[in-house]
Amino acid sequence: MRIAVLGSGGQLGRDLVPRLHGEVIPLTRADLDLAVPESIAPKLGEVKPDVVVNTAAYNFVDKAEAEPDAAFRVNAWGVRELAKACDAVGAKLVHFSTDYVFGLDAARTLPLTEADPPGPVSAYGLSKLAGEYLVRTFARRHLVIRTCGLYGVWGSGGKGTNFVETMLRVAGQGKPLRVVADQRCTPTYTADLADATAVLIERDATGLIHVTNAGSMTWHEFAAEIFRQTGVSANLTPITTAEFGAAAKRPPYSVLDCGRLSQLGVTLRPWQDALAAYLAERQNRPNR
Ligand SMILES: NC(=O)c1ccc[n+]([C@@H]2O[C@H](COP(=O)([O-])OP(=O)(O)OC[C@H]3O[C@@H](n4cnc5c(N)ncnc54)[C@H](OP(=O)(O)O)[C@@H]3O)[C@@H](O)[C@H]2O)c1
Repeated sequence: MRIAVLGSGGQLGRDLVPRLHGEVIPLTRADLDLAVPESIAPKLGEVKPDVVVNTAAYNFVDKAEAEPDAAFRVNAWGVRELAKACDAVGAKLVHFSTDYVFGLDAARTLPLTEADPPGPVSAYGLSKLAGEYLVRTFARRHLVIRTCGLYGVWGSGGKGTNFVETMLRVAGQGKPLRVVADQRCTPTYTADLADATAVLIERDATGLIHVTNAGSMTWHEFAAEIFRQTGVSANLTPITTAEFGAAAKRPPYSVLDCGRLSQLGVTLRPWQDALAAYLAERQNRPNR
């Protein structure tokens, strides 16, 4: 099986490439730019994949409020061309989406299933939801994986960092940390997500599926657990989303129900155990 991985230089992409079984073809933006639609079909025609795994995305959640067109160019219109191109070469498209397709139901307190109606509250979330619909519309063989709060040893968004590293860096500098305590979701270790994705591809899972570590937390609880597990002392204060004042709205509750994943025989470990595994693995983290 030939598996092309888009975004192979990204946080998830780097963890995914070594875990997939088959002939893996890692592709970066230089090989295939989702913002340049005419580049997509020729590249897939050349690579001739059986499966395309798309981890590439416009991921600047706050910036997207000011430049929604840039988010839609990649996350919706680029994904539409990718879905069409996959269909044309007979490839299955495995595409990643986000818990940020939810949030409109502010009273929600129960984990969200694949059957729950989405309702994004940000331009980024809307662009990703559009991407989901376009995958479903144009790629006859597809799997859309919604996940949440990614962190891995490679760091996200070309910044080479993630929430855990940011918390440890700021605490290490002796600075106070004010962390949001009114958004509940489930942070997910990219190594665990990559393992689950490899299994889902082998089992030829299709449709829409939620994949996160187990349990839930607020970002303040996550920070507290990071400091508990590392023994680092920190000046940590809970704040509200309004006090934090980000440009983009976030879902107050976006815990994803992973029941469908369990039915397929895959269960990810609790987020606290995943954090422990990350903290062990980060000793070997590159460029530190
Ligand atoms: N990070 C999270 O917390 C989170 C949460 C939920 C869902 N997700 C979803 O999970 C997936 C993986 O996220 P991640 O954290 O691994 O993202 P990431 O670290 O930001 O990696 C994204 C990759 O996409 C590439 N890319 C960006 N624009 C591109 C374009 N126009 N054409 C081709 N490649 C492009 C980037 O390349 P460059 O380095 O060249 O920019 C980068 O390698 C995404 O679909 C994201 O929406 C992420």
